[in-house]
Order: sequence, then structure tokens, then C-alpha cells
Amino acid sequence: MSSTLPNTPDYYAVIGHPIEHSKSPIIHAAFAKDTGQYLQYERILAPLDGFVHTVKTLQQQGYKGANVTVPFKFEAFQLAHHLTERAHDAGAVNTLIFSPEGIVGDNTDGAGLVRDIEQNLHIKISGKRVLLIGAGGAAEGVLHPILAQSPALLVITNRTLDKALSMVKKVEEQGDYRYVSVNAYAFEDLSGQQFDIVINATSTGLTDSTLPLPSTIFAPNALAYDMMYGRETPFMTFAYQHGAQVADGLGMLVEQAAEAFFVWRGIRPVTQVIMQQIRAG
Ligand code: ATR
Repeated sequence: MSSTLPNTPDYYAVIGHPIEHSKSPIIHAAFAKDTGQYLQYERILAPLDGFVHTVKTLQQQGYKGANVTVPFKFEAFQLAHHLTERAHDAGAVNTLIFSPEGIVGDNTDGAGLVRDIEQNLHIKISGKRVLLIGAGGAAEGVLHPILAQSPALLVITNRTLDKALSMVKKVEEQGDYRYVSVNAYAFEDLSGQQFDIVINATSTGLTDSTLPLPSTIFAPNALAYDMMYGRETPFMTFAYQHGAQVADGLGMLVEQAAEAFFVWRGIRPVTQVIMQQIRAG
């Protein structure tokens, strides 16, 4: 009797350092179950100087792809033989596809953030005033996907203003988003400005540092979105205190995973259930 099920699963992994905290294996296991896909997904700790070797080993072992997390997203960008447009725009890669033509590098982080805001939180970015806090890798990764939604205005603010200014300059030079007003401001020059969506893409949640934001920064019914997840950050506490609707980055984590799953498997999993399960602990 013949069976339509393959004998062995397709293998995927998430590569990082550290990696033991990663929730990606449980998320992808839930997606596989939900969609009836036969795959296995594991965590792999790569040595800090051993990312390329780790990827090549997985390829030789017949893995179909991998996610890449801190601190290897830029190395993954450099390693890929082909980049998707969004990976090119982000300057970083979080999803690798091992294809017969070589390694394809993609970036699903920005799509995950946009999907969480628009589909899960039901807030349209189009026409809104958006403040992006931070100018590191996390901010770069979501900049273009946010701009592609046509906000009325995008302001980037960062402790080191020069980095925010050079992000704005790059966008201007590219010229793809001429209809969006894109500016950079120092924290101290934000007073008097109000935003509908405020996104914290800094790493301040890791160190419990506060950001010197004016208390009037949130427009009525504003969304305050912290790309970190796992606990309430000082930015989230500040946003609660000043009347904003607050979201952490768990939805983005699950949605970027769903987007990677879609890239690999061609099928979009349901995200609500696993999101609720992780929240419930
Ligand atoms: P990631 O990949 O998480 O973006 P990163 O590239 O190191 O990490 O960027 C960290 C971001 O958090 C930067 O925007 C950084 O500001 P600087 O460019 O001025 O370094 C920001 N950040 C980190 N600690 C901060 C703090 N205590 N206050 C304000 N911003 C901070």
C-alpha cells in the first residue's frame, strides 16, 4: 500500500548564540501540526566564530533552511548567495532557504511587525504618524516594511543621532518612499510632537534603561509597541502611564516565524493559538 506521507521529515533550525531561550522550535512545531506539514525544527548554538561552518554543515546534512538570530543576522546577509529585496533593504537576514541554486537570504522581521500591528492589533499604519525609536539592526530591519505601508510621517529618534540621520539619508537616496515624510530627531527635540504609533526598536528593554521621551509623545489612542517580549519593559510602563495602548513583541516573533514558514512551505499557518499558548506560559 502506498502512502502520501514522506518517510522522513524536512529539517529546519534556528541558529543563534545564545539560543536556549528561543521559542522558535515550539512555534514551528505548532505551525507544522496546524498545517499537517512533516518537519522537525531545532535550536542550534553556533560558536561566535563558527556561524558559516554551522550553516554549511546543516546544508550538507540536507536541512531545507534555517532561521538566524542574534548575533548572526549580518553574517547571514553576507553569506547568502541570493538576497530577497526585503533582506537587501534590511541589511540583515533572519531566514535562510537552502536551494539547489545556493543559499537564499530573506528577512521576515519587518513583515512580522507589520502583520502583528495590522492583522492582530487591527491598527492601520497608512496615514499614521509613526515614531521609530532606535537606529540599530532591529530598527533597520523594520524601516522599509513600515514605510511600505504609507504612514503620513515617519520620525526616527536615537541616542546617537547620526545613526538616525544616516538611516533617513539612505531612504531619501533610494527615493522609493517620496510620499512619506521621513525625519530624524534627537530625543530632546521631540517635545511638542505627537505620534499615533510609537515603536521601541532599541535594546533598552534588556538593560531596564529608560528612554528620555516627553510624556506628551502619545496621541490619543496611540499604540506603543515594544519589539522586545517576555516582560514589561520601562518603555511599556511609561506608555501605560501616559495612556497608550501597549503591545510587546511576542506577536511580531510569532508572525515573523509564520512568514518564514510560509516562505519555506508555501502555506500560511494560523498564529493566534500559539500566541495565546505562549502568553499563558
Ligand atoms: P539591535 O540589533 O537590537 O538593534 P544594536 O544594533 O546594538 O542592537 O542597536 C541597539 C539600539 O538600542 C541602538 O539604537 C542604541 O542606541 P545607540 O545607537 O545610541 O547605541 C539603542 N540603545 C541601547 N541602549 C540604549 C540606552 N540606554 N538608551 C537609549 N538607546 C539605547
